Amino acid sequence: MSEPTTHLTKVPAPAPAREPILQVRDLVKHFPLTQGIVFRKLVGAVKAVDGVSFDLYRGETLGIVGESGCGKSTVARLLMNLETVTAGQVLYKGEDISKLSGKALKSVRRNIQMVFQDPYTSLNPRMTVGDIIGEPYEIHPEVAPKGDRRKAVEDLLDVVGLNPEYINRYPHQFSGGQRQRIGIARGLALRPEIIVADEPVSALDVSVQAQVVNLMGRLQDEFDLSYMFIAHDLSIVRHISDRVGVMYLGKIVEIGGDAEIYEHPTHPYTQALLSAVPVPDPDARERRERIILVGDVPSPANPPSGCRFRTRCWKAQERCTLEEPLLAVPAVFRGLDSPAAHDSACHFAEEKRVVPTDD
Ligand SMILES: Nc1ncnc2c1ncn2[C@@H]1O[C@H](COP(=O)(O)OP(=O)(O)O)[C@@H](O)[C@H]1O
Ligand SMILES: [Mg+2]
Repeated sequence: MSEPTTHLTKVPAPAPAREPILQVRDLVKHFPLTQGIVFRKLVGAVKAVDGVSFDLYRGETLGIVGESGCGKSTVARLLMNLETVTAGQVLYKGEDISKLSGKALKSVRRNIQMVFQDPYTSLNPRMTVGDIIGEPYEIHPEVAPKGDRRKAVEDLLDVVGLNPEYINRYPHQFSGGQRQRIGIARGLALRPEIIVADEPVSALDVSVQAQVVNLMGRLQDEFDLSYMFIAHDLSIVRHISDRVGVMYLGKIVEIGGDAEIYEHPTHPYTQALLSAVPVPDPDARERRERIILVGDVPSPANPPSGCRFRTRCWKAQERCTLEEPLLAVPAVFRGLDSPAAHDSACHFAEEKRVVPTDD
């Protein structure tokens, strides 16, 4: 590119505003770290999620990627209110749902459902698929009254590409891919608006992964769903994501439109992750430089000062130890979630860092 690259570039034409359905603000989850067996002494905290902010727009898929242990599942569990927040907010249509309980929580839960990673352990082996998929109706009978349930479950089986006649079978009678279809059918039972899918294909054979991802894409259109799709590998989310956020040690380090992240990653960590993604074209493979990260991921109980990635970063300088690089507040991106809206938490992001204009 001949154009001079500057650190800050103005977005040329803002995309039309879209409505965020979920707004996550400064989300923090610290797990107490204790020592001793009888007399448990608090010795610190595992900073599993340490200030995460993003918006999920209606109808989009936001991919969240990062190595094992970086806090992806904890973010998912916080969104689902399966874990209490240490600090921060989860706004669903503008209302903070992170501190809800009882009836109010139950009503929100109907709209936000989760698909779990491992279809081998997340389905109760002693229940028939009909009972598994229909179980949410026990809690929300208003969605499908008792007399209609069997039909509702058969429809769900059909929707996810399974024969409705399988309704009385047990999970062990299905393959991994089929089990994940059952998990997805269950997630759809209450007709949610949002599905948080925590590594939904990671436990599946590579040959089956694409089928499940394609199914999820089709269901998204059919049921007008917004997805948060978690993966540890950038190659999987590529096919389904409109935007991608990259996590490292409890933080989002880079977020942007799918094409931006894959073609112009600006955070060194994203560049390293991408360099490990297999490239089918042998010429492109030749040209590509493989970035091997040195060292291990530091402990989330004791993250490095300043930039958390600096201990493994080839660009790190003194400033990175002293000053934490931050992402722009996501609200600034409102209406600008075009592929251009791209931000990277790096002092030395080599390409442009796009910030929206306010006109
Ligand atoms: N219930 C818990 N108690 C203590 N530490 C936890 C708990 N759940 C997760 N962690 C720790 O929080 C960090 C993030 O975990 P997790 O969210 O599962 O990461 P990921 O899903 O990205 O692999 C890890 O260091 C993990 O060990
Ligand atoms: Mg996880």
